[in-house]
Amino acid sequence: MDIAVIGSNMVDLISYIDKMPKEGETLEAPSFEIGCGGKGANQAVAAAKMGSKVMMVTKVGDDLFADNTIQNLELYGIDTEFTEKVAGTSSGVAPIFVDAESKNRILIIKGANEQLLPGDIDRAADKLKQCSLIILQLEVPLPAIYRAIDFGKEHGIPVVLNPAPASRELDFEYVCKCDFFIPNESELEILTDMPVETEEQVHTAALKLIEKGVKNVIVTLGSRGVMWVTANSMQRVEAYHVNAIDTTGAGDSFIGCFAHYYVKDGDILNALKMATAFSALSVMKRGTQSSYPDATELEKFIEQQK
Ligand code: RIB
Repeated sequence: MDIAVIGSNMVDLISYIDKMPKEGETLEAPSFEIGCGGKGANQAVAAAKMGSKVMMVTKVGDDLFADNTIQNLELYGIDTEFTEKVAGTSSGVAPIFVDAESKNRILIIKGANEQLLPGDIDRAADKLKQCSLIILQLEVPLPAIYRAIDFGKEHGIPVVLNPAPASRELDFEYVCKCDFFIPNESELEILTDMPVETEEQVHTAALKLIEKGVKNVIVTLGSRGVMWVTANSMQRVEAYHVNAIDTTGAGDSFIGCFAHYYVKDGDILNALKMATAFSALSVMKRGTQSSYPDATELEKFIEQQK
């Protein structure tokens, strides 16, 4: 097993809208799509599409969405031995609104994701020990996240923490035990209470985390690319200029692809470059997982950009 994703899955209910209705107003919107999402599942699918062997520790409800979510993960070859159903609970769902400028607004109703507990990590221990990397996000309870971080530490498995959605309750004692901390700019702003409008401000805010003891801070900047900050370096990877249609799940696609390449050969800068290309492709199509390219499409895109 290459990668363990411990975290969330959701059913994405995506409305493509011209504008948000005001209070009391009814507006017609052009179209709607339903798809598999959730930050954890998206990251797992992105890594699996690139060819990594991925397992997922996650919880679904006992509703009509549950089997479809499990089947979808299996379709991508993801190991679902520790993808469990929770009786009497709904699956996680995410109503999403994507506007004409491809910007999104997302609500999450966590459902069964709230039931992911530290004991779930311990029960999956034998399989988790075989993984080369653990990926975490914050759509599941923090005690499970903290247990997963400690598990990674105990077994010498590097940990990627994507603090999405941002939580001010996140304990930085645990963040410092992670190998990679990957916020987007708004998460960085919330977690540091610092402005992030200019590149310089992003760098200063990332350095604040480095001063606290975080090893690698990788800030995803959307159409501005990525900034990788360590105690003694700062590197930028510029984004590709593409026609964005739907940016939902682009950050997750970046993390899954980054994880794939990092596990492959440990070359962080190359992994960032590949992940930047992967997420550029993902914004050119509608949907979350359904917009992710495979390895052949990624190679072709990179060739075309030369
Ligand atoms: O990052 C995008 C994801 O956030 C969506 O798939 C949605 O399910 C929410 O988890």
